[in-house]
Amino acid sequence: MNILGIESSCDETSVAIISNEYLTANLISSQDFHSKYGGVVPELSSRAHLQIVIPLVKDALKKSGLNLNDIDVICSTAGPGLIGALLVGLTFAKGLSFSLKKPFIAVNHIEGHLYSGFLMEDKPEFPFLGIVVSGGHTLLLLVESFTKIKKLGSTVDDAAGEAFDKVAKMLGLGYPGGPNIQKAAAEGNPEKIKFPIAELKEPYNFSFSGLKTSVLRYIQNNFDGSKNIPEQDLNDIAASFQNAVVRALSRNTVRALNNFEVNSISLAGGVAANKAIQEEMTKVAAKFNKKIVIPRAEFCGDNAAMIAFRGLKLFEAGYTSNLSYSPFPGLSKKHFV
Ligand code: KG4
Ligand code: ZN
Repeated sequence: MNILGIESSCDETSVAIISNEYLTANLISSQDFHSKYGGVVPELSSRAHLQIVIPLVKDALKKSGLNLNDIDVICSTAGPGLIGALLVGLTFAKGLSFSLKKPFIAVNHIEGHLYSGFLMEDKPEFPFLGIVVSGGHTLLLLVESFTKIKKLGSTVDDAAGEAFDKVAKMLGLGYPGGPNIQKAAAEGNPEKIKFPIAELKEPYNFSFSGLKTSVLRYIQNNFDGSKNIPEQDLNDIAASFQNAVVRALSRNTVRALNNFEVNSISLAGGVAANKAIQEEMTKVAAKFNKKIVIPRAEFCGDNAAMIAFRGLKLFEAGYTSNLSYSPFPGLSKKHFV
C-alpha cells in the first residue's frame, strides 16, 4: 500500500510517500524568501507552492522507486492554514485522486502534528498526552486512539510559535522567530527578567498575549528602540521570554499529568523543536515516570510525512473524503470527543 501525502498550509511545500508502512520520501521545500518581509506573504506563498508541488511529487516518486500509478491513496492537508496556500495542495491532490481513480483523504494539519511522534522509531503509547505547539496553535490533548481525541486546553489568544515570532520581531531578530530566539537565548540568562505567565480560569488553557506585551513594555521602558538593545541584554530578554513559555507549557502539562492517567507524552509542532522546551518536558516526563516522544526536527516543522501517516490511519479506520471537500478554518470536530 502506497500513500502519497501533500502539505501546503503555510510556507513549506512538502510531499511524502509511505510505502508499506515505511516512509520512503519526505521532501520539504521551505520558502525562505518570506524572511525579508518579516513574515509569510500569503499570495507569494501560494505561487511558490504552485511552482514546486509537481516537481516535488515527481522527486518523491523517484526516490521511492514508484510510478504515479502505484499510488493507492492520496492525502492532503485541508486546513487549518492559509487559504490560498492550502488550495494548491488540496486541489492538486483532488485532481490526482480523480485522474488516478484512487481514494482521497483530507487531513487536518493539527492532527497531522499530533500523531507525528509515530514517525519515530520509539512511538507514543495510547492513551497519551499530546502537546501541539506550532505557529498557529497551542493545544493540550488527551489522545485515546487514532480517532478519539479529547481537548483539555488551548491558547485563548496567541499561539506559542506566534509569540516567539512576535517577540523576535520586537528584538529585531527576523522571521521565523523561534530558531532565532533559541539561538540568542543560549547566550542569555533565563532568570534575569521574571516575565509573567497568565493564570486562567481554565487550568489547561494558555495565554501568551500578556507575556508578549510585557516583553514589549520591558523593551520600551529600558531601551531606546530595538536597534539599541545591547547584545547581552537582548540575549537575556530572549532567554527570559523563552523561559516564560517553558514555564507555561510545563505548568499545564504537570496539571494534566496529575489528573489524567496516560502512558506517554508526545510533544509536537514547530515549537517542539525548541531545545529548552524539550529539556523541560523531558524532565517533567521523568518526574512522572512517563515515556516522552519528541519528533526529530524534520517532523516537528511542517512536513508531509505526518500528513501521509495521518491519512493512512484515517484510511485504515474507514475514512475517505469527498472530492468536493473545501479547506476548513479550524479544528475538525470529527475525531474530538
Ligand atoms: O508547525 P509549524 O512549522 O507551522 C505551523 O503549523 O504553524 O510551526 C512554526 C512555528 C513558528 O512560529 C516558528 O517560529 C516556531 O514554530 N519554531 C520554533 C522553533 N523552530 C520553529 N519556536 C521555538 N523554538 C524553535 N527552535
Ligand atoms: Zn504546522
